[in-house]
Amino acid sequence: MLFPEYRARRMRSSDAFRRMIRETVLTTDDLILPLFAIGGKNVKNPIESMPGHYQLSTDNLKKVAKEAFDLGIPAVMLFGIPETKDPLGTQAYAKNGIVQQAVKEVKNAVPGLAVITDVCLCQYTDHGHCGMVDKNIIDNDASLDLLARIAVSHAKAGADMVAPSDMMDGRVAEIREALDENELPHIPIMSYAVKYCSAYYGPFRAAAHSAPKFGDRRTYQMDPGNALEAIREATMDVEEGADIIMVKPALSYLDIICRVKDEIDLPIAAYNVSGEYAMIKAAEKMGWIDGAKVMMETLTSIKRAGADIILTYSALDAAKILRG
Ligand code: PBG
Ligand code: ZN
Repeated sequence: MLFPEYRARRMRSSDAFRRMIRETVLTTDDLILPLFAIGGKNVKNPIESMPGHYQLSTDNLKKVAKEAFDLGIPAVMLFGIPETKDPLGTQAYAKNGIVQQAVKEVKNAVPGLAVITDVCLCQYTDHGHCGMVDKNIIDNDASLDLLARIAVSHAKAGADMVAPSDMMDGRVAEIREALDENELPHIPIMSYAVKYCSAYYGPFRAAAHSAPKFGDRRTYQMDPGNALEAIREATMDVEEGADIIMVKPALSYLDIICRVKDEIDLPIAAYNVSGEYAMIKAAEKMGWIDGAKVMMETLTSIKRAGADIILTYSALDAAKILRG
């Protein structure tokens, strides 16, 4: 189709036409809101680099969960900030650990809201790594049993879905097996399958006190230069029994979302991470961009790239805009 027979501007000429032919439309159904649970009562500690987000005690967490549900957001993702840390991350799978408590309370208060829990060790280990540490090496196989215990304890507390974010090899299979053995075969696994070693996690680590105390995560999270490896990681997790495959971060990895969507026949989630959120908020605060517009454009681009589900700290803001 060539000019002047084809005029691209014809179908852009009115709002009605633009809406009729729009290929990607964001809805509240696409969004998952991440939340940070901490002990205590009436706690609402602002997270400086993530304006609008807080470390919340369960009483306040319930209120935000209710607000999300009322706005049409189908699910939240819970992260826990424990009172104590140790080498084995025991608070991660403690029966009355922070996530276990928060899940129970949120499910009681808002039963229709799906509660997904992040399964990892880094907030709970004194060294801050996502797996067991032996002589400063992250021990893959020794971590699997603990990760499975965390997942089972979350599901027993009432979590509707578990989401391992540790990047140990083989953990999806181990978690699937443990859930099945504990009469939890109906609990799905959303795998952080394609998780890059990214500097965009900075604000999250400050919020969750989960930065590694030595070294970095390069031996278990993916190298930003790699794309074919994303397909291998995703394929491995599909074969191990994952129900949803996640790509993380989102914005610098839109090509990866697109490739994974093409290759994998499971729902694809993308995590619009803390640093991506912080950059928009910071530029907005400076008066340099229209934050709300940039946020909506960003979320639309993540969906257009192939994400069926978007985890985003902007979920409440976006839902309010979508609801008019
Ligand atoms: C920890 C975890 C991280 C995030 C989610 N789970 C950070 C990390 O790998 O250190 C990042 C979330 C974000 O930046 O928003 N396993
Ligand atoms: Zn971790």
